[in-house]
Amino acid sequence: MLQIKNLSVLVGEKQILNDICLDVPEGKITVLMGPNGSGKSTLANVIMGNPCYSVRSGSILMDNEEVRLLSPSERAKKGIFLSFQNPVEIPGVSLTNVLRTAFIAVKGKISVFEFSKILKEKMCLLGIDESFASRSLNEGFSGGEKKKAEMLQLAVLQPKIALLDETDSGADTDVLRVFGKHINLMKQQGMGALIITHYDRMLDIVKPDFVHVMKDGRIVESGSEELAIKVSEHGYL
Ligand SMILES: Nc1ncnc2c1ncn2[C@@H]1O[C@H](COP(=O)(O)OP(=O)(O)OP(=O)(O)O)[C@@H](O)[C@H]1O
Ligand SMILES: [Mg+2]
Repeated sequence: MLQIKNLSVLVGEKQILNDICLDVPEGKITVLMGPNGSGKSTLANVIMGNPCYSVRSGSILMDNEEVRLLSPSERAKKGIFLSFQNPVEIPGVSLTNVLRTAFIAVKGKISVFEFSKILKEKMCLLGIDESFASRSLNEGFSGGEKKKAEMLQLAVLQPKIALLDETDSGADTDVLRVFGKHINLMKQQGMGALIITHYDRMLDIVKPDFVHVMKDGRIVESGSEELAIKVSEHGYL
């Protein structure tokens, strides 16, 4: 279980998150919605340890252990994963290389042969063309293809808790269905997810257990699936 307790965060002098309390249990789907600029991506980045943000107060607990002072890679080893809203392009570094390096860092040694078996299996599961494996990370990838590459990282790393920051945006209906099925499968295997989204399209496939709405850096409403439906129909006002 990931627990956020009374978290307040600054960028420079500006306070972006205010006293956030949020649980992300394993084996459950937690959804975070909220207007543009309300602080959702900031929260995901702070949980993963992005050094751009300074935590003024509060705790980030993974399985009851404080991770606030750990590096992003140590947090990844504890089982936390972040899929970026805007994945970066890294020319000259192949997708396979990134995935294998990340796998070794998080899970330990694996032979090239064993890893390529896992990679092929996951690419097939997610309907990703094998040619992507040798391409530079996200370079020239379409918006939807970048999200597929993020989902492939999730599939390969199999974290305990996945923070999925608008992984659905840019994905077409068929791809969304594949993503949804995969998230449901990983949930059955015990993974917990914090799904940040603006759309109920994803939530038709992945049923949320808990839904929270963030506004101006605060959680202003919490509930179940009905809250996501209300927001989708009536907006945040
Ligand atoms: N590194 C930064 N420097 C300056 N301001 C920042 C930085 N990161 C975030 N902010 C500001 O913090 C606020 C929250 O941004 P954030 O990206 O968390 O919003 P969001 O809820 O994810 O929005 P969206 O739905 O558009 O993705 C915004 O006003 C943003 O401009
Ligand atoms: Mg965002």
